[in-house]
Amino acid sequence: MELIDTSRIPNHIAIIMDGNGRWAKQKGHDRIYGHSNGVESVRESIKTAREFNVKYLTLYAFSTENWNRPKEEIDALMDLLVTTIISEIEELKENDVRLKIIGNVELLPEKCIQALKDAEERTASNKGLTLILALSYSSRWEITNAVKEILKNGCAQNEITEELVSSYLNTAGIPEPELLIRTSGEQRISNFLLWQIAYTEFYFTEVHWPDFKRDEFLKAILEYQNRERRFGKISEQIKA
Ligand code: IPE
Ligand code: IPE
Ligand code: MG
Repeated sequence: MELIDTSRIPNHIAIIMDGNGRWAKQKGHDRIYGHSNGVESVRESIKTAREFNVKYLTLYAFSTENWNRPKEEIDALMDLLVTTIISEIEELKENDVRLKIIGNVELLPEKCIQALKDAEERTASNKGLTLILALSYSSRWEITNAVKEILKNGCAQNEITEELVSSYLNTAGIPEPELLIRTSGEQRISNFLLWQIAYTEFYFTEVHWPDFKRDEFLKAILEYQNRERRFGKISEQIKA
């Protein structure tokens, strides 16, 4: 922890929380057990993000493609989502965390939509950390949707800029992540934030999500601080 430079903490960290199922299987349990245990890692990530003054934390919790999983797993995940949101809301408020949901929320069960809307409203004025939960989310869906909206609004060809496209995404107004973490050894993006991660630093770890605790979070930040972000320039220009 002493190694971390607190003046160079990423403003926005995005996490693909992966490996709950494998973690549970290794322990001789069903996949749902892994998801339930993953909640503690979510809690700890939020706490650590607050501690180090990270301003935005985006967590990939359920992808569009995850709708293709067995029904029992989807139902259990949706139940877990509702119970967790309801049980955590007071803590979010106390810790000055604002909740924002991205994704095709309409596809979620009604009880989830209600709980999420309520939590968003009740945390709307918080300023410490914006916690962005990606639910029923996929980046291609998000971009396709943005194109539809742009056309619907009759934008002229010369009005189309990168800033305009960004402003039509679910993440409008949220700065791009400096750091993307994926747990559990897979080295792929799985349809997450394709537009937003153009210059994001990637960090992959073998650790499964339920074991991703404060130390692992800090390791990722430390690794990020050892990277040189050149944005197309050469090293000498960055150091100048
Ligand atoms: C991540 O863990 C949680 C979700 C995608 C909902 P997984 O459920 O993908 O766990 P593995 O990758 O099968 O181990
Ligand atoms: C990505 O994990 C989605 C989430 C973490 C919510 P998956 O486990 O669904 O991704 P793939 O299928 O291995 O690429
Ligand atoms: Mg997985």
